[in-house]
Amino acid sequence: MDQLRVVRMIVLLFLSTVSSTTDPCQHHGVINQARRSSAATVDDSDLVICDIYLDKGWYRFTSYTGGEIPTSCVQPYQCSTEVPLWMDGTLPEGDDIVNRTACGNLGDPSDCCTIPIDIRVKRCTEPSGVFYVYELQPTYSCPMAYCAGSLPLCPDGEVYDDFHKHCIETRPVVPCDFEGHGFCEWLQERDDELDWTKTTGHHSSGSVLPGLDHTLGTATGSYAFIRSSASNQPGYRARLISPVIVTSKTDTCNVNFYYQGSGTLRVYKKGYHGSRKSLVWRSPPIMVTAWTATVVSLVHTNPFQVIIEGTLGSDGQSAVFLDDVSFSTGCSSEVDGAVRLVDGARFGEGRVEVYYDHEWGTICNRSWTQTNGDVICSQLGYTSAVPTSRQYPAPSATPIHLDEVSCSSANVTKISACSHSRWGHYHPHCDHQRDVSVACTGEHTSLTSLCCHLTLPLPSPILMPQGRDYGSVQYQPPPLSPVI
Ligand SMILES: *[C@@H]1O[C@H](CO)[C@@H](O)[C@H](O)[C@H]1NC(C)=O
Ligand SMILES: *[C@@H]1O[C@H](CO)[C@@H](O)[C@H](O)[C@H]1NC(C)=O
Ligand SMILES: *[C@@H]1O[C@H](CO)[C@@H](O)[C@H](O)[C@H]1NC(C)=O
Repeated sequence: MDQLRVVRMIVLLFLSTVSSTTDPCQHHGVINQARRSSAATVDDSDLVICDIYLDKGWYRFTSYTGGEIPTSCVQPYQCSTEVPLWMDGTLPEGDDIVNRTACGNLGDPSDCCTIPIDIRVKRCTEPSGVFYVYELQPTYSCPMAYCAGSLPLCPDGEVYDDFHKHCIETRPVVPCDFEGHGFCEWLQERDDELDWTKTTGHHSSGSVLPGLDHTLGTATGSYAFIRSSASNQPGYRARLISPVIVTSKTDTCNVNFYYQGSGTLRVYKKGYHGSRKSLVWRSPPIMVTAWTATVVSLVHTNPFQVIIEGTLGSDGQSAVFLDDVSFSTGCSSEVDGAVRLVDGARFGEGRVEVYYDHEWGTICNRSWTQTNGDVICSQLGYTSAVPTSRQYPAPSATPIHLDEVSCSSANVTKISACSHSRWGHYHPHCDHQRDVSVACTGEHTSLTSLCCHLTLPLPSPILMPQGRDYGSVQYQPPPLSPVI
């Protein structure tokens, strides 16, 4: 055999190994664009989707509007494109890959399949159910795109909460410059070694403190810090926990802050429904001697919390300073009636706080019932409440928002929908000793795997208009199998 034939044989062997061992159920790109729903029509202000630059390959549609290409005719200008592609034929019921035709509809009343494109489909199963992957190829022209799903998009100003499976109203997260009372919406964690404290540059006596804060640039402005002392040992940590964040489908979500110092600063995110925290950023291992702007990107499908953790270094003079913590517009938090658990010994337990009129407040336990506790827990994504004698009274500055709460059934979706006293009105016997605390059980685990998808930037300005992100397309090439 000459060299060329050997090479060709190896290539052929290689290709056949790849195709015979690669399961598209395991290896596929992900398209998460709610606007591909057949319920989404193009209007004047919208830019259309076009798949002319789509890489040929296997894809799964993951948007909340649905994961399947419609199998009946879709009209022009649906699916946020001019020429929508639907699928002629049924979804496979077995495990084999089937050939199908995607049909571009140009609007000819006698032919809904003016432009046929060959695609393939495979049915896949995972513990949470069945899904389909499609082998797609780029369209011949623009604007033509594959449809996926048929559910309506969330109204403007609402985001889809993937965990609770409905659209929710949201509000911006309050930025924190540490100038006012407390730590804004951030909470100190209980099971760390230290608490963050606040000070002003002016107040500094030791040399390690910065003279000026970041917000005002003056010696009287405030910032948060931790520092070594006789009782604060190297390695001691202090954590601040953000309110529960949901990310918008249309803008990116970042947490922004300024820091300096000689210890370590880490940022974690933690799914609110029982998942473990994961590190998303850490400061470089060198001393930072001026306020340094930091932007940390947060990608998460389900509601989550951000944890900012400072750790003291080993030099005995270690300190970490933090100022002006804010979130970008793609991050939001839930509106009035949202609940959270505070100060508990674990996630899923603690004092119940309800959000109302820009403030978190407690609930007085008069006539509190197990059913009420179940509603709180299911609102937070747990199954039910378990009896607990532990109590976590609020600091005196916290308002009491609700009294005489009475839920008729655990099926009520939120505690504010149960009957209750007027907001802020409560019996004189209510004080923080009577704050409701609950312990929830039945944590859900997140099914979302953020692992392993290669994100390619989309080349076309048609697909990714500036200032408004319409979702994401991630293409994952098949893995290369070793040639034996
Ligand atoms: C699917 O299409 C391919 C290529 O067009 C063809 O080789 C194959 O036989 C078809 N499979 C079935 C089950 O029709
Ligand atoms: C709660 O909802 C479930 C299912 O939707 C229903 O079977 C049950 O009867 C409801 N319970 C009450 C007390 O309304
Ligand atoms: C409410 O809290 C008070 C004080 O801790 C306690 O004595 C009382 O039993 C509680 N009432 C209910 C209904 O849980």
